[in-house]
Amino acid sequence: MPTWIVDFLMTRLARHSDEGLAKQLTRLIREAIVAGRFTEVSHGEQGVARLPASRELARQLHLGRNTVIQAYEQLQAEGYLETRQGAGSFVVPAFLRKPGPTAVRAQPLGLSSRGNALVSTATIPDGLSGAFAPGMPEIRQFPHHVWQNLLSRHQRSTPWPKLGYTVDGGLPALREALAEYLVLSRGVRCTPEQILIISGAQIGMELSARLLANQGEVAWVEEPGYAGAHASLQAAGMDLVAAAVDDEGLNPDSVQDTRTPRLIYTTPSHQYPLGVVMSLPRRLALLAHAARCGAWILEDDYDSEFRYSSQPLPALQGLAQDERVIYVGTMSKVMYPGLRIAYMVVPDGLIDAFRRAHARLYREPPYITQAALSDFLQQGHFARHVRRMRELYQARQHTLRSALASSSAHWLPLSSGKAGLHLMAHLPMLANELALSHAAATQGVVLRPLARNYLGQAPQKGLVLGYAGVNDHEIRHGVAILARLLQEVQHHD
Ligand SMILES: Cc1ncc(COP(=O)(O)O)c(C=O)c1O
Repeated sequence: MPTWIVDFLMTRLARHSDEGLAKQLTRLIREAIVAGRFTEVSHGEQGVARLPASRELARQLHLGRNTVIQAYEQLQAEGYLETRQGAGSFVVPAFLRKPGPTAVRAQPLGLSSRGNALVSTATIPDGLSGAFAPGMPEIRQFPHHVWQNLLSRHQRSTPWPKLGYTVDGGLPALREALAEYLVLSRGVRCTPEQILIISGAQIGMELSARLLANQGEVAWVEEPGYAGAHASLQAAGMDLVAAAVDDEGLNPDSVQDTRTPRLIYTTPSHQYPLGVVMSLPRRLALLAHAARCGAWILEDDYDSEFRYSSQPLPALQGLAQDERVIYVGTMSKVMYPGLRIAYMVVPDGLIDAFRRAHARLYREPPYITQAALSDFLQQGHFARHVRRMRELYQARQHTLRSALASSSAHWLPLSSGKAGLHLMAHLPMLANELALSHAAATQGVVLRPLARNYLGQAPQKGLVLGYAGVNDHEIRHGVAILARLLQEVQHHD
C-alpha cells in the first residue's frame, strides 16, 4: 500500500470544516490523481497505483469506514478509480504519470496572436463615472418608475413561449417603433425589417467586420477615434488604418496607406472625441470615395439625439444613393449604458445574413427589455426623456463653459459643443496630459487624455470632458480641481 497517500491526506483533512469529511476526502484524492501524484511506480512500490483498502485507510485517518467507502464510490462514478475483483481500488491507468524523464511536459498556455494584438491595444477604460467621465448620461433623472412599471407589466404578462430562443432580429413591435423614430428624427431610410436589435453598438461593428471583410483587410478609422470601435474591428481580424479628422470630419484625402479600405468607420453626427460635425460636402465626398473603392461605411450615430444649436444633419445612411452604409445606434446615451440595447440598420440585401449570423454568434437581448422599450418609445416616454435631457445637457455644458471661463483655466480652447455629452479641451503640446490625468484621478476627477484615442503618435493634446452625467455642483468642483492642477503643471514645466 502506498504510505505517502496517508500522510498526504492526514495533513490536509480539516476535522472542523463546513465541507463534510467524505467530500474532503473525495476532493483530496481527486486532486492527488489529477496532479499526477500516482505514478506507474508509486514511490518505490511496483505496479499500478492501488489505493489503501477502505478499512485500513479509515483506521489510519481515524475516519468511519463508510466515509472512505463513500469517497471511493464517488471517485469511481466520476471515472478516476476502478475496482478490480478481489484486489481493491486502483487509479485508472490514464491518470498514472510515467516516472522519470519520459513524463510529458505541458506546453505553456497563452493568447493567440490575434488575442495578443487586441489586449495590447485595448485598455480597460477607467474613470467611468463622476466629473468628467466621457459618454455618461444623467442616470439619476431617468424615469425609473415608468421603466420599472413597463418591465413589470411585461414580466407578468409575457407568454412562456416568448421566453425561448428568438431569431427574428428583434421584437417586431420594437423594430417598428425604432424604424419610425429613425426615419422621422434621424433621416435614416429604412423599413422595420432592416433593423437588427443588438446588445451594444460594438456588436454591430464586430458583426459588420466579420461579415463584410476578410481577415487582414483594411478598415479606415477616425484618428483620433473611438477605442471601442478599434477593438471591435481589430478583434474581427481587420487591419486598422488611421484617417485624420479635420474641421469637417474624417478626411479621406489624409490617408497615406495605399491599400484599398474594405470598411470605413465614422461618427459623422458628432465625431468622437473631437466633437466635429461632418460637413455636407465632406459627407458627399466620403460617400463618393467609398463608392469608388467599393468600401462599406460603418456609421456610428451614438449620441446625435443631443443636438443643441440647429436641426441635426440627416444621417449619412439617408444621404447615400446606394446601399453601402451600415448604420449603428445605441440606447446607452439616450437611456443608460447598463441597458445594453443598441440597433443597426442593414441594407435590404444583407439583413438575412446579418440576422442569421447574429442569431448564431450573439443572440438577441432579453424579450422583456425589448417589449418594455417598444412601449417606452410608442407611449412617448422616450421623446419626453430626450427633450428633458437635451435641455439639461445644454445647461450643463453652459455651466462647464462658464466655470472654466471664470477660472484660471479660461484660456483652454474648447470644442464647439454643438452636440453630444462631452467637450474637448485642447492643451498646449508641452502639457503633460497623462500627469494631469493621474493627479486628477487621485482627487476623484476624471480627465481622459486625448492620447488614448489615437492609434499612432498624437499630434495634439487635450482632455475629453464629459459633462452630461454630473450636476452643476460636481461640474464646478471638477473645474476647480482641473484649474488648480493646470496651474501646478505649468509651474513645473
Ligand atoms: C463613439 C461611441 N460609439 C459607441 C458607443 C457604445 O455604445 P454601446 O454602449 O452601445 O456599446 C460609445 C460609448 O461610449 C461611443 O462613445
